[in-house]
Amino acid sequence: MTPTVRTRVAIVGAGPAGLLLSHLLDAVGIPSVVIDQRSRDEIESTIRAGILEQGTVELLDTLGDASRVRTVGNRHDGIELRFAGEGHRIDFPSLVGRAVWLYPQHEVLKDLIAARLAAGQDLRFGVTAESVQDAETDRPRVIARDADGQPFEIEAEFVVGSDGSRSVARAAVTGSSTGGYFREYPFAWFGILCEAPPSSDELIYSNSPDGFALISQRSASVQRMYFQCDPETDTAAYSEAQLWDELQKRVPGTTLKEGPIFQRDVLRFRSFVAHELLRGRVALVGDAAHTVPPTGAKGMNLAIADVRLLADALGALLLDGDARPLETYPERALHRIWKAQHFSWWMTSLLHVAPDATDFDRRRQLGELRSVVESDHGRAYLAEAYTGWPQS
Ligand code: DHB
Repeated sequence: MTPTVRTRVAIVGAGPAGLLLSHLLDAVGIPSVVIDQRSRDEIESTIRAGILEQGTVELLDTLGDASRVRTVGNRHDGIELRFAGEGHRIDFPSLVGRAVWLYPQHEVLKDLIAARLAAGQDLRFGVTAESVQDAETDRPRVIARDADGQPFEIEAEFVVGSDGSRSVARAAVTGSSTGGYFREYPFAWFGILCEAPPSSDELIYSNSPDGFALISQRSASVQRMYFQCDPETDTAAYSEAQLWDELQKRVPGTTLKEGPIFQRDVLRFRSFVAHELLRGRVALVGDAAHTVPPTGAKGMNLAIADVRLLADALGALLLDGDARPLETYPERALHRIWKAQHFSWWMTSLLHVAPDATDFDRRRQLGELRSVVESDHGRAYLAEAYTGWPQS
């Protein structure tokens, strides 16, 4: 007999989506079990993006003091778009009355994990989900192996796949591990972390003839920067001096403050939306349901927007026996997902130089950038999407 753990909601994946969902469910009295194949240390040390929409910050406020966004993170009231040798500030509060916070995703994860463990959450690291079964019954199951490789099952009233872009749960919903709308891009980002003071007060998104660069931050003494590269680039291909040259030539007008580079990575660009987000009693959220290219930092924010909708829908189903909010979860989530897909694609195509770009393409792109920054409506469109549309 395979050992079976019983709970109301089984959550596969302890990223921001899965952990926040367990918190929101707990807040209305619904117990859950959260599993993740990674160790706690791996989850807490993986470097991801750093920008939180205002709505994301407000939802994290429900963790109370456990959320350090407002104390350790930094509010940013604008970004700079730089092109053709000039910087153009997009001022969020005056355009849309909102802001964003710079607070890295792994810090969000540290806060969530500490808060969930303090609340007594059944949260299991090093546990691998092999498949999700019986989606179309009222007892869906997760077939898993514990940290010692021993098989066990989680039987629940509902299973949520928050297990990232290589989701195992996805097959139970879409019928295949890939099934979705998909787009690739002919470039990637070379990301670095360095020990240096900030080179600018706010983030700089720069379109230059040599390609895109993003000057972001992490803290007073650690900075995050990216430049457009070929997706096949090897992180060891550049010396530190070459990395600074690549970055510096893409932000003419700013002298970057250099310091030791202690981490490098290449981020692939993909746009993906699963064909289905719900089958019976299994739903997908976050990267298991969709991925966006990184420009504009929508990934985690979108995952959290999914979770807000799904938590309410599961409350209605499991507390009141009302399945209607769940039935409309895909449609309501996809409304925002496709807007964010468009925004991420648009920011990407606005700022990057495609390898096969012609002179026409370059001049058209500068025309598009000018249309945005020279118009109150253009700047407001960007500010509204960047700070996050209000939750529906
Ligand atoms: C960061 C990443 C992004 O994709 C972005 O648009 C802004 C900031 C970051 O990692 O800091």
